[in-house]
Amino acid sequence: MLEVIVLAAGKGTRMKSNRPKVLHPIAGKPMLSHVLGSARALNPLRLHLVMGHGSELVAANYGAVDVNLVLQEQQLGTGHAVLQALPDMQDDSIALVLYGDVPLIKAATLQRLLERVSENTMGLLTVNLVNPQGYGRILRDENGAVSAIVEQKDASAEQLQIAEVNTGLMAVRVADLQRWLPQLHCDNAQGEYYLTDIIAMARAEGLSIVTEQPDSENEVLGVNNRQQQAQLERFYQQQIASQLMTEGVTLLDPERFDCRGKLVVGSDVIIDINCVFEGEVNIGNNVRIGPNCVLINSSVADNCVIKANTILEEATIGADCELGPFARARPGTVMAQGAKLGNFVETKKANIGAGSKVNHLTYIGDADLGAGVNVGAGTITCNYDGVNKWQTTIGDGAFIGSNSSLVAPVAIGAGATVGAGSTITNAVPDHQLGVARGKQRNIGKWKKPEKQ
Ligand code: UD1
Ligand code: MG
Repeated sequence: MLEVIVLAAGKGTRMKSNRPKVLHPIAGKPMLSHVLGSARALNPLRLHLVMGHGSELVAANYGAVDVNLVLQEQQLGTGHAVLQALPDMQDDSIALVLYGDVPLIKAATLQRLLERVSENTMGLLTVNLVNPQGYGRILRDENGAVSAIVEQKDASAEQLQIAEVNTGLMAVRVADLQRWLPQLHCDNAQGEYYLTDIIAMARAEGLSIVTEQPDSENEVLGVNNRQQQAQLERFYQQQIASQLMTEGVTLLDPERFDCRGKLVVGSDVIIDINCVFEGEVNIGNNVRIGPNCVLINSSVADNCVIKANTILEEATIGADCELGPFARARPGTVMAQGAKLGNFVETKKANIGAGSKVNHLTYIGDADLGAGVNVGAGTITCNYDGVNKWQTTIGDGAFIGSNSSLVAPVAIGAGATVGAGSTITNAVPDHQLGVARGKQRNIGKWKKPEKQ
């Protein structure tokens, strides 16, 4: 059985934030969620989350059934932190120690680490760093076997030259921890109970410490400040960008691409710079997305063209549609095949029928448009009376003249026309013309004012 312990009690002083560090995001998702995601992929019996600073907030966000919330009231060191969770773990389990602020660890790496644990071995994840400053160094004996970990602050000048460092992630049998953790002392430079001291204890009992290394050092980098958060954010985004390109997507600049969720893309899709994808986004084949677009929990079918600065949120876009530049499709927008939303058009809870065009400066909300409708510039569906929302329906082939207000609830019939500048408050029957505006008068004897 596997029990995962995630250490997340630290304060994160250098983040200069009121929020606990582990709740700060990478790719729009709290670091802790990344860690728990990798942990869950290993199918553990339970996840033990050691909280301290900001524990109320952490508990509020992670009270899931498979998470055992453990409070470490005082942060007396990593060994002390693991000790807090120890009584909740099964004697015959293997414990995997993770850090809540080391977000990009991969499940595959952890799986390899777990395979290192046996009755007389424990697994330790180490990495060789060009700049090992700040980390615990791995000491090896003349046979190359790990003998101890020495913390930066306790290390000799010679030990500080060692490039191999402790990532802090390890896998060890609970039965072993039960013997070792109570023996930890805090007689060291930081006055803390170091989890790392169990390495020497393991050796003293004749166990071997078997090391494993991650594929990339970014997997084991921790976040202590905003700079490191940004660095891991970029690494994460580069990975997604690279994966998409491998799948055949053209990213005009992979450095200016952000995915904060799950993006599924068909073939021959071109994504211009500075686009942001959030939540679940599905894109079909042959879609072109212009610069500065934001797509949130939306789907876009084949052959669509989304021009610059367009924002989609919970929108469903059918095949062959065209949107933007500067279109905004809000939640509940459903566009059928070949429909168009042009510049400065906002839609919400709106069905836009096949081939319908809403090309300029328009608001369509709580509306159902048939096929082949043409909505002129400056049209507003007046859906809100200050208290309730009301529906507008527009039949197939209707033509709405520019600068019209359709005061809902109202229905415009199929093939009907609304004269430009109308304020429509009553239904317009099929194929009829509805005009509701002041009649034009021309005043012949009118004289222009003259300057005094
Ligand atoms: C620790 C390791 C060091 C390793 C480094 C990798 C020890 C003694 N040292 O050092 O060998 O190279 O990580 O980053 O283990 N935490 C708690 N409760 C505590 C103390 C810490 O939950 O009482 C949590 C922190 O929130 C953090 C993690 O444990 O997520 C590591 O703590 P940190 O203080 O960063 O340890 P380091 O001194 O960096
Ligand atoms: Mg640290």
